[in-house]
This record gives sequence, structure tokens and C-alpha cells, in this order.
Amino acid sequence: MQGRVYLVTGGSSGLGRAVAEELARRGATVMVTSRDAGRAAAVAQAIREAGGQADSMALDVRDPSAPRRALEETLARRGALHGALFNSGGPRLGSFFELADEDWLSGLEVTLLGFVRLARAVIPAFTAREDAPAHLLAIVSSSVKEGIDNLTLSNAYRPAIAALVRSLAREVAPRHVLVNAIAPGRFDTERVRELDLAAARRAGVSFEEARNAAIARIPLGRLGRPEELARVAAFLLSPENTYVTGQTVLVDGGMVRGL
Ligand SMILES: NC(=O)c1ccc[n+]([C@@H]2O[C@H](COP(=O)([O-])OP(=O)(O)OC[C@H]3O[C@@H](n4cnc5c(N)ncnc54)[C@H](OP(=O)(O)O)[C@@H]3O)[C@@H](O)[C@H]2O)c1
Repeated sequence: MQGRVYLVTGGSSGLGRAVAEELARRGATVMVTSRDAGRAAAVAQAIREAGGQADSMALDVRDPSAPRRALEETLARRGALHGALFNSGGPRLGSFFELADEDWLSGLEVTLLGFVRLARAVIPAFTAREDAPAHLLAIVSSSVKEGIDNLTLSNAYRPAIAALVRSLAREVAPRHVLVNAIAPGRFDTERVRELDLAAARRAGVSFEEARNAAIARIPLGRLGRPEELARVAAFLLSPENTYVTGQTVLVDGGMVRGL
């Protein structure tokens, strides 16, 4: 990964942070971004303290001009871009009749449209060759394969990203750009804590009971560790990945039963 430069959105915590750190650990330079400049800067600082190379800036994926600004800043500092990770906070929880138009619109912006805007900005600027392709990767969810109760917006928008990844991958393959998605099952992050708390409230049980019920559905018998997803993401984003494109890769400890 030496000499390669990546832009990471939603990189200040959880899965996005783990991917940024893994890319840096493998020798890449990372532009860490999130809505909050301070939180992104803290991750970049931690990467530098661990011997890696990282810059940071604020980037809200709901802001249409943000990807272009981040691209320009990255090119100004590092001279090239070889890959990008799209990540953000998940959409609002809720069952169908709990969601208003505003929820659908904000869910769209933070998921599908955010990815569209990032892809539009970075793909034309990628440095890519046949033997060293550039990579765009989106973090989606196991909801691409199997709907999750109380996550209507994720169930609707994540499969849309997976479908777009497939069609975009075909379109940009001649430019030596590979486009994939990675679908986490249940990893130990703030977001999953929030999901388990909501499930506990809805079922009138304790947080531990809701969490144990969720874990019981995972054949490997535990939540994933963010670095376990990050290792798969780093491969998909690496020059080692010269032939996987248009795919959505599940990393879920065997949780999803469908194909
Ligand atoms: N953890 C899992 O097992 C799991 C499973 C399925 C799907 N997912 C999805 O994977 C993604 C990451 O999950 P996570 O568990 O790592 O969540 P997390 O710990 O809550 O992290 C979310 C990250 O996104 C950033 N963010 C939030 N809104 C943003 C926005 N509008 N623009 C840019 N950055 C934004 C947050 O940083 P700031 O607050 O600093 O902006 C934070 O760095 C989410 O979309 C989640 O729904 C996770």
C-alpha cells in the first residue's frame, strides 16, 4: 500500500475508523474525514502516532460540494488519489409507519445520494492502471440480503447502493476503477449499541437480553470486531485486488442465511 492515497468518509469512529487505521497500517496515506473536524483530526493524529501517514478535514456526506472539496484538498497535499471508502452514520431507525417524507429524504442523502456524490467526484480523479487499479468501496449492511426489523430505511436504500455498485462497476471498468460494497452483519460499535438499546425498549427487555438475542443469531457466537471488517475492506481497496468488482461482500460471522 506504500505510496497509495485514500479518502475515507465517516472515518472518526467504528467501522470507518477501523478501515482508515488498517489502510494506514499497511502503508497507505489516508485523508480521514467525518462531520466533525476535531474527531477526524483525533483519528489522523492517532494514525501518525502509530507511525502512519494521515491528514484530516470535515466532510458531511449530505453536503453536495463536500466530496469535491475533500478531493481538492487531498490532491493538493498528496498529489494523487488511488481509492476511497464511502461510510457514514446509518439512517434513522423506524418501522414503515413511523417514517415521514423528511426521514426518507434524509436517509437517502446519508446513504445512496452520499455515495453517488462521492463517486462522481473521485472516480474521474483516480490514478489507475490495469496492473494497479483504483478502488471505490461503500460500507452498506447485511440488509442488502435480509431485511432488518425496525430499519426500513436501511432495508430500502442499502440494496440500492449494492445495485448501483454493480452497474457503476461495469461502466468504469475500462478506466481501471473497481467498485465494490462491503456488508457488515453486527459489529461492536456505537451504532449497534443504539440498535440493541432500541430493540430492548421495543421488546420491554434489558439491553443485555436484547444483545444476547442478537448474538444468538450469529453462528460464530459473538459480535464482529471492527478490525475484522477492516481487513476485508483493506483487501478490496488494495492493489492486490485486481479482479473483484461490482460485488457486495458480506462480513457477518455467518449470520445471514440467504445467498
Ligand atoms: N456496526 C455494524 O455492525 C453495522 C452493521 C450494518 C451496517 N452498518 C453501517 O455501517 C456504517 C458505519 O457503522 P458504525 O457501526 O461504524 O457506526 P458509528 O460508530 O456510529 O460511526 C459512524 C461514522 O459516520 C460518521 N458520520 C455520521 N454521519 C455522517 C455524515 N452525515 N457525513 C459524514 N460522516 C458521518 C460518524 O462521524 P461524525 O459523528 O464525527 O460525523 C462516524 O465516524 C453505518 O452506516 C451503519 O449503519 C454498521
